[in-house]
Amino acid sequence: MENRIKEIVNKSEKINDSILEISKNFPENIVFSTSFGIEDQVISHAIFSQNITNIAVFTLDTGRLFPETYAVWDKTLLQYKATIKAYYPNNDKVENYVNTNSINAFYNSVELRKECCFIRKVEPLNRALQGAKIWITGLRAEQSENRNSIQKLEWDEQRQLYKYNPLLNWTTAEVVNYLKKHGVPYNTLHDSNFVSIGCAPCTRALKEGEDFRAGRWWWEDQSKKECGLHR
Ligand code: ADX
Ligand code: SF4
Repeated sequence: MENRIKEIVNKSEKINDSILEISKNFPENIVFSTSFGIEDQVISHAIFSQNITNIAVFTLDTGRLFPETYAVWDKTLLQYKATIKAYYPNNDKVENYVNTNSINAFYNSVELRKECCFIRKVEPLNRALQGAKIWITGLRAEQSENRNSIQKLEWDEQRQLYKYNPLLNWTTAEVVNYLKKHGVPYNTLHDSNFVSIGCAPCTRALKEGEDFRAGRWWWEDQSKKECGLHR
């Protein structure tokens, strides 16, 4: 599998071709995670517009998303007549967290923030990835220094799967142009200077000159700003 998959991911920078090739060569156990950000909408378009049905598309609904995120989710389903499976956090865990710590306890410490991310995102992600052999994401190198060192294709030892980041080397302009060219729906928060969009209480718009991820968990140190989805 290793050589074949490497060959495919390095063959073309054209997203539609890469996604189609992957789906044909590995007909089983491929999943794609979408948060409906601009990168994910490119990949969704590549999947849905080519009627690829053997890549299981899923999203993690943390319960704390923006109304605009739910709107683009709905619009995407309608436009492509797509199937996107939603995963939800374990209700006992959420109840326990909120009743023990309070509804917005993630502002109080990095530990409480990470615990909330674990309950609302990481545990559901682990369920969504069960049985998957290839996990497609919308990660890009430009998004942060941490992400500069990731590869287009990575072996995830802990999860025992290949993580495929087809847009790794794309620029923001390339992503935006693709969406425009193909009339792909996007989260309207992007029109108000929101760049990287996660949960509503933990995401704000960028100010002049700030980097990509400055609007995520902005009250924390730069070095702590990952939620555990991508370690
Ligand atoms: S995060 O780790 O900081 O939350 P980010 O928002 O940059 O991640 O998104 C990077 C990739 O992680 C997305 O392209 C998508 O594949 C996946 N992802 C992030 N959030 C979600 C979500 N709520 N549901 C599904 N996939 C997600
Ligand atoms: Fe909780 Fe914020 Fe993490 Fe969302 S981003 S899961 S609200 S801490």
